[in-house]
Amino acid sequence: MNKGFIAGGALVSIVLCTTAGFADTRKGEKIEGQKEFEKHCAVCHRSGGNIVNPQKTLARKVLEANGVKGVKDIIARMRNPGPGMTKFDEKTIPNKEAKAIAEYILKTFK
Ligand code: HEC
Repeated sequence: MNKGFIAGGALVSIVLCTTAGFADTRKGEKIEGQKEFEKHCAVCHRSGGNIVNPQKTLARKVLEANGVKGVKDIIARMRNPGPGMTKFDEKTIPNKEAKAIAEYILKTFK
């Protein structure tokens, strides 16, 4: 009788996160917190608000009430967000950009 087929070989799927090659073009360019904010965050946080959860705006007082007291805390929220917010890892927003965004938020939304 036929032994059938041997389905051999392990399927190794390597998920490559292709980082777009725009890193080079911005060498030496100043990272603008505002521009990055508009690009990544403004869809939900237009003018420092929050269209998904209106309780959690980016106004300084609200942030502080929710334990977000500085640049580091804002970056922490990007890396590990609460319900309803997109997660931004270092591939999407490198630390330098994340810092610029955080500084922009802190100085802009009062
Ligand atoms: C898809 C919509 C969405 C996007 C895009 C988004 N956010 Fe949020 N964000 C939310 C929601 C919803 C919350 C509330 C989460 C929770 O309940 O903790 C939130 C909360 C926050 C908080 C805490 C606010 C508070 O008052 O506690 C910070 C800081 C924040 N976001 C920063 C950012 C930054 C910076 C970006 C861009 C890099 C961003 N968010 C992009 C939806 C979004």
